[in-house]
Amino acid sequence: MVSILKYKHNPNLQMIDFKAIIEKEITLDPDNPAALRRLAHLMVDDMFDYLSNVAQRPVWQAVPETTKQFAQEPLPITGQSVESIYESFKEHILPYTKGNIHPRFWAFVQGTGTHLAMMADMLASGMNPNVTIGDHSAMYIDQQVIEWSKEMLHFPKTGSGMLLSGGSMANITALIVARNAFDAQIRAKGLNPQQRLVMYASAETHSCQQKAAEIIGIGTEGLRKIPVDKDFRMNITALKQQMVADKAAGFTPFCIVGNAGTVSTGAIDPLDKLAAICKKEQLWFHIDGAFGALAKLLPEFEGALKPIERADSVSFDFHKWMYMPYEVGCILFKNKDLHRKSFAMQPAYLLSHERGLAAGPDSLNNYGPELSRGFKALKIWMSLKEHGIDKFRALVRQNVAQVLYLQDLIEKQPKLEMMTPVTMNVACFRYKPLRKTLSTEELNRLNKEILMQLHEKGLSAPSYTLLQGVYAIRVANVNHRSTKSDFEALVTDTVRLGDAIIESGMKLF
Ligand SMILES: Cc1ncc(COP(=O)(O)O)c(C=O)c1O
Repeated sequence: MVSILKYKHNPNLQMIDFKAIIEKEITLDPDNPAALRRLAHLMVDDMFDYLSNVAQRPVWQAVPETTKQFAQEPLPITGQSVESIYESFKEHILPYTKGNIHPRFWAFVQGTGTHLAMMADMLASGMNPNVTIGDHSAMYIDQQVIEWSKEMLHFPKTGSGMLLSGGSMANITALIVARNAFDAQIRAKGLNPQQRLVMYASAETHSCQQKAAEIIGIGTEGLRKIPVDKDFRMNITALKQQMVADKAAGFTPFCIVGNAGTVSTGAIDPLDKLAAICKKEQLWFHIDGAFGALAKLLPEFEGALKPIERADSVSFDFHKWMYMPYEVGCILFKNKDLHRKSFAMQPAYLLSHERGLAAGPDSLNNYGPELSRGFKALKIWMSLKEHGIDKFRALVRQNVAQVLYLQDLIEKQPKLEMMTPVTMNVACFRYKPLRKTLSTEELNRLNKEILMQLHEKGLSAPSYTLLQGVYAIRVANVNHRSTKSDFEALVTDTVRLGDAIIESGMKLF
C-alpha cells in the first residue's frame, strides 16, 4: 500500500533498484585522469602549433566525402577512448575548418581569435558558471566588461548592457527594448494593431533587422527600407518623405536604425542627421555598429561616429573587430531602467536573497531573453588586460590602412576596378578584362567564378556582395594576422585567375 502511494505518479519507478544503483554511482569525470591530462597537454601544444603554422595551410579546403560520411555515424551507444576521438578530430574536423583564423581570410565579417582568448574559453568551460544569477566572480567580471564597453564607446556610466551571442541577438534585444519603451503596455497586452508601428533603416541594413522586425511583431512590412545614396548611406530626404507618408497613412514611427558600417560596403549612415530626426520626432535611435562601432576607438572616425553617443542603444561584436573567438556580441543602452523594464521578472525560484549564493548583483535575466549564459566575458576581460585598449586601437587602424593599401593596389591594376570607395575596412572590387567587352551579367558570372576558384585553390577567402545588381568581390578586414603581402597576393591571384578564365574561353553563360 505504501509503495503504491509512493509511486502513484509513475508506477514504473518501482522497477528501479535505487539502492543497487547508488552503491555503484558513476560520473563523467575521467577514469584515467593522468592519461587525459597528458592528452590535454598535447591538445594545447597541437593547437599552439596549429595557430603558429596557419599561414602555411590553404585558407580553405572542401570537406571531403569521407568526412561528410564520418559526420553521419549513428549515435554512439557506448564510449570509446579519448585518444581515438582526438585522432578523428584531427583527421576529419580540424583540416576542413572555415578558415577565418587565416591571414588571407576576409569573408563575411569574421574575426580571427587569439591564443589567450582560446585558453580563456577553456578556463571558462572548466569553471562552467551559468552567468545569470547569484553571487559569484563571473557575474562581476561580466559586469566589468560591460563597464569597459561603455567606456570604449563613450556611453554614460549610468547606462547598461549585455553580452549576447552576436550582433543579431544584440540588434533584436535593442529593438525589443525600443518597442517596449514606445509603449510599456506591449509587454502585458501585446501589440496594439491600431498603432501600426513602423521602424526605418537603410536598404543596406543587415538582414538581422528584418528578423528583429518580425520578432517584435511589426512584421517585415513594418520595417521601412529607405533607399541609399551613391555611397550606400541612407538617403535622408527619402527617409523624411517616407515618414511623412507613413504618418499620413496612420502608421506610427517608433525607431530609426542607423548603420555604423554596413555589412556590404562599410558605409556609415549620416548618424548626426538621424540623431536629430529621432530627437525631434521622439523616436528611439538604435545604431547597428556590429563591426564599425569599434572604429570609434580611432580619432580619425570621430566625426562620423561621434553621434553614437547620441543613440539610445548601440550593438557591436567582440567576435568581429575585437578579434575574440566566437561567440560574443554586445548591446549597450543609455537608459538602464528602460532596458530592465523590458525583461525583468521575479519568479519564485529566481528571487534574490540578502546573503549566500542567491545574493549578488541584479540577475542578468532581468536584462535579456536568456536565462542560461556562459562565461564569455572572461576572454574579453583577459584580452583587454593582456593587450590594453591601445593595442586594439592600433590593430583597428592597421586593418583600415591595409584596406586603403588594397584600394591603392587595385587602382594601379588596370584589370581591376573598385566598386565603391573605401570608407572603413571594407573593399568591394571586380576583375574586368581589358580587351573584351562583357555585359554586367557576364562580368558578374566571371567574378563569381574567380571568387570560387580563389576559395577552391585555398589562395584567399574574400566574399561577395551585390551592389545595385553588380557582383563585387568583397574584403572585410577584421583580421589581426593579415600582412600587406596577403593583400598583394589577393590582387595578383585575382588577375591571374581572371586572365586564365578569359584565355580558356570559358563560357560565361
Ligand atoms: C552590420 C552587421 N550587423 C549585424 C550583423 C550580425 O552579426 P552576427 O553575425 O554576430 O549575428 C553583421 C554580421 O556580419 C553585420 O555586419
